Amino acid sequence: MNDESNFYEQLVDALKRPDGPAKEDKKRPVHTIGIGASGSFVASDVASQFCKAGHFQRTSAKDPVPVTIRFSNGSGSATQRDGWSDLRGMAIRFHLGKDGKGQEVAADMLTMNLPEFFAPTKEDTLAFSLAVYPQRYQRESPWKKFTQLLKLQVPRRNPYPGETISPIPGGTTYANKHEFAQLSVFQDFAIGVPFSFARQPYHAVHTFVVTGDDGTRRWVRFSWEPTIGVLNKKDSDPIEDDFLSGELGRRLQNGPAKFSLMMAIGEAGDDLNNCARAWSFHRRRVFMGTLSVEKIAEDQWLNNEHLSFNPCRVVEGIDLSDDPVLHVRRGTYEVSRLRRGAPLCPFSRS
Ligand code: HEM
Repeated sequence: MNDESNFYEQLVDALKRPDGPAKEDKKRPVHTIGIGASGSFVASDVASQFCKAGHFQRTSAKDPVPVTIRFSNGSGSATQRDGWSDLRGMAIRFHLGKDGKGQEVAADMLTMNLPEFFAPTKEDTLAFSLAVYPQRYQRESPWKKFTQLLKLQVPRRNPYPGETISPIPGGTTYANKHEFAQLSVFQDFAIGVPFSFARQPYHAVHTFVVTGDDGTRRWVRFSWEPTIGVLNKKDSDPIEDDFLSGELGRRLQNGPAKFSLMMAIGEAGDDLNNCARAWSFHRRRVFMGTLSVEKIAEDQWLNNEHLSFNPCRVVEGIDLSDDPVLHVRRGTYEVSRLRRGAPLCPFSRS
């Protein structure tokens, strides 16, 4: 095993939680609980000017690009806690038909409802992943919270009933020592509970390089915005462990859940290769198309547990930036896929 492969193995090991899935359950070490769905994507009228990839060519609503979708809770706990504050993920596969050799072509886009990542390099990612290993978690006294505020530290939220361990203690200690992790860690720990998977914004976080139909290359970041707006549960709402999949299923019976794909265009001075740094909200943003989430997949083994997405699965017209965290994800997701026995993506060219 070479150093790179060894590093991917270490990263996947570092994601394990004491309450995570058993090895024989063959589940993901993070984003463990999720639901698979299907839908379609229609590119906007201007998308092809900015990106010549297949999914951004003009399509009519009658002939959209088919997509596979998996929504997930970010946690690697094997216990479903939809009602606890947590990151949420939306992974999309665009099915782009066959190439000249008859081989299926697809592009993946992995997104989460936090606009930046916790660490700028692969070494920091490993250190952060080790730091957030869940530890004993208990309510802090009002006095402790007050002294934390005086030290300009963010006080911890109270534990949920039954929450005895958490990544929050380790994450807070890490963020207090590493400035780059502060924004994401404190946003993550206060992110809350979505009203619905369909009412969250999702960000691809890394920079990608798109080539337009005139050959112009642009450094961009993608985000999905729910067309009916972002909505979280209130703190006073009852805590339910399992409601997000059911809510999505009922919602889709009344029509698709839609998201607009927005593409922010980087400008001089933007940190292109640092996914721990968000770009200014003032960046020019182009509307690239509409995603319709249409149906919960009938076979959740095949279309949820057995799927394997990869953020580096791109097609001609989209290139990876030099973000080192993006590059380390390619091999890490492969190691994770192999460990859980998920089949190689039929669209993979590697
Ligand atoms: C180096 C940083 C990261 C590491 C090491 C990492 C690791 C992983 C691993 C091992 C999995 C399970 C893969 C599988 O078994 O199929 C996973 C899933 C996932 N990750 Fe990451 N991740 C990283 C960064 C990110 C970022 C920046 C995002 C969001 C933009 C993200 C979003 C997701 C999503 C949505 C899933 C679930 C995919 C699915 O539904 O199958 N991850 N991650």
